[in-house]
Amino acid sequence: MTTRLTADAAGISRAASLLRDGALVAFGTETVYGLGADATNARAVAAIFDAKGRPHFNPLICHYPDADSAFAHVEPNDAARTLAAQFWPGPLTLVLPRRITCPVALLAGAGLDTLAVRVPATPSALALLRETARPVAAPSANRSGQVSPTTADHVLAGLAGRIAAALDSGPCPIGVESTVLDLTGPRPILLRPGGATREAIEAAIGPVQAGIPHAVAQASRSMRSPGLLVSHYAPTLPVRLDATNVDPDEALLAFGPPLPGAATIFQLSPTADLAEAAANLFTGLRALDTPGPRGIAVMPIPATGLGLAINDRLQRAAAPRQ
Ligand code: TXA
Ligand code: MG
Repeated sequence: MTTRLTADAAGISRAASLLRDGALVAFGTETVYGLGADATNARAVAAIFDAKGRPHFNPLICHYPDADSAFAHVEPNDAARTLAAQFWPGPLTLVLPRRITCPVALLAGAGLDTLAVRVPATPSALALLRETARPVAAPSANRSGQVSPTTADHVLAGLAGRIAAALDSGPCPIGVESTVLDLTGPRPILLRPGGATREAIEAAIGPVQAGIPHAVAQASRSMRSPGLLVSHYAPTLPVRLDATNVDPDEALLAFGPPLPGAATIFQLSPTADLAEAAANLFTGLRALDTPGPRGIAVMPIPATGLGLAINDRLQRAAAPRQ
């Protein structure tokens, strides 16, 4: 049985004690719901991979209540300090070298000598991390390869019975995962576009190297960040991008005034607002992924600001299935 906990003081305390006991607890962040475990407990971390059906070569992000506790486990450089001061708490994940003394289970980092760290912004998540007083490893709280959850209902739809509890803090305000930035090499590399925009990051630390295009992602970028499989965030129905027309047997994911002719429409943002569209993206993909339509047609979305992350997730949803 999976318990739904309200994100009040009692629910947070219960969630923290479950985590400290090695149990799996999903919790809301500003990006998506995470599937948390005590990152220092290798058995608990292994249970994350089992619950998700996630390949063991895919490393997890460790969550901390503040930058000081994160930087006690990884070695920050100047760029990391600058970004932490500006973006944390918030939707930015930094990949940095592990310290020799880092207590995080090697399995959480898939055996790499780097670790991805993040300080989430949702107050109940921060309270949970403070009270747990351990680094919390947390991938998105969905079965591997499926659409990330932005509500506790989404979490329970995929993981009920597989995890101890879900801490319900309501819908996630940003709605796409954090930006993952690799700071371990000579130049910063954007491994995954996300809630912190490339433009804002570049304004803080200068140019970041563009992620490798999807066409070669499988061969190269996915080796550097193994979670970045080409087909990911995938609904059951085929997804068609940049649609300028819609067939009668297709469902439409609309952005701005909808194309005519669709029987089923999910509106990401009637005013074509990218932040609103990001917050609605995964709910929309889930809502349209029903038996009936032949596929999902997606209207064009500009690839600037949060649109970069939205297009990244949509391209994965549309990629040939593995
Ligand atoms: O918004 C988010 O980031 C959410 C919430 C729960 O924090 N978490 C999330 O985790 O999206 P996950 O596991 O679904 O995605 C983590 C990404 C994967 O693409 C993984 O390969 C990459 O970060 N990653 C983790 N550790 C890494 C490392 N040491 N080096 C390179 N990439 C890493
Ligand atoms: Mg994920």
